[in-house]
Amino acid sequence: MRISVIGCGYLGAVHAAAMASIGHEVVGIDVDAAKIEALSRGEAPFFEPGLDEILRSGVESEQLRFTTDASAAAGATVHFIAVGTPQTKDGDAADLTYVMAAVRALIPHLSPGDIVAGKSTVPVGTAEELAELIAPTGAVLVWNPEFLREGWAVKDTLDPDRLVVGVPATADGERAAELLKEVYHPALAKGTPYIVTNYATAELVKVAANAFLATKISFINAMAEIAEVTGADVTKLADAIGHDARIGRRFLGAGIGFGGGCLPKDIRAFAARAEQLGRGESVAFLREVDAINLRRRDRAVQLVVDALGGNVFGKRVTVLGAAFKPHSDDVRDSPALDAAVRLKGLVADVTVTDPEAIHNAQRVHPQLTYVHDRDEAMRDADALLVVTEWDEYRRELDPGHATGLVKGRVVIDGRNCLDPVSWRAAGWSYYGMGRP
Ligand code: UDX
Repeated sequence: MRISVIGCGYLGAVHAAAMASIGHEVVGIDVDAAKIEALSRGEAPFFEPGLDEILRSGVESEQLRFTTDASAAAGATVHFIAVGTPQTKDGDAADLTYVMAAVRALIPHLSPGDIVAGKSTVPVGTAEELAELIAPTGAVLVWNPEFLREGWAVKDTLDPDRLVVGVPATADGERAAELLKEVYHPALAKGTPYIVTNYATAELVKVAANAFLATKISFINAMAEIAEVTGADVTKLADAIGHDARIGRRFLGAGIGFGGGCLPKDIRAFAARAEQLGRGESVAFLREVDAINLRRRDRAVQLVVDALGGNVFGKRVTVLGAAFKPHSDDVRDSPALDAAVRLKGLVADVTVTDPEAIHNAQRVHPQLTYVHDRDEAMRDADALLVVTEWDEYRRELDPGHATGLVKGRVVIDGRNCLDPVSWRAAGWSYYGMGRP
């Protein structure tokens, strides 16, 4: 099937390449010429495991091409909208500028019977508005939210947990739901659940899922706060409650909390939208979820200060990690970088290292010192702060080896990803988040 994908960021580039890899003829469209050039060479403009391979094979086989020209969408049967919906500069709501611009750019190239499939995360009610906007073209709007995780984006796109499609309650809507089944045929053949619903439900599924995940993380971080004043160990607590199948152990990783381009802004946008709808109290807890999350960043910084005797002035702190999570070079709202910046604000001598994210971190925070080589970064450190649980730090960093590099054997484990026993056995002062 001929497909266009408008917006070639984390979501759109992966979606375009994944659709080409299952045999569709895909054109990816973006206003950013540099991004389009890189993608046209088969190079991912960001780090995403497995993406380069499918990009390259798509471009080489000519199943996949990229352009800045919106008219290239003409002739495609399905047009995916995959542009970003960042937080507005002056509030918590989602900024729909890019979604509106993408749809407006697409409208002149739509034909009757085309399907416009929204994938961007939008406030509930947006699809209804967009459907009216495109109605004169005779195209049909569906809402098809994306649940991909960075670092697993290719797998999550090709082999999702579920597919959700919001359609209008018309014959066109039914036809559109059937047509999207053809798009996703390989995943459906593997038994992926296919949920057809109305626009509002489809839009809400996405924000509800992210709100639930954020709540789960903040729940365990709230328990970490209690553990800190009682001597309990939040990691053991998480193991114990996680054995209850109704609760489950995943997303109960206590530490410096969540960041990235989705969870933080999505819960704020959801709360803002609920307030607009007169239902602010229904999700008022999301404000608390956000507050707990941000407190963990303060706590991580405080642990470093306390561990260094109450003052970090001039102390050498090596921050291990800049990305908001491992297997990603994304530093948007990264707790790791936030901690580094705060320590720098306390006039610590901060060095940041990360296997993939230094380039992006440097662009946002050029005032920090970055060192690519992990061991070089740790040299003569008074304290190590681990804030992104890359294998390079979690599994491959031997405390005995680290001892030979640093000045002070102090490690603050902002992700509870190190083994306290082996670090302490090597003579280190180990501080976790919510564990004795
Ligand atoms: C998230 C959702 O998981 C995904 O379904 C949605 O489409 C987009 O938002 P992503 O932002 O890629 O995906 O990251 P995710 O793996 O969910 O992690 C989010 C943040 O939570 C990271 O900063 C991570 O370090 C943190 N986290 C995750 C915890 O602090 N503890 C945990 O137990 C799990």
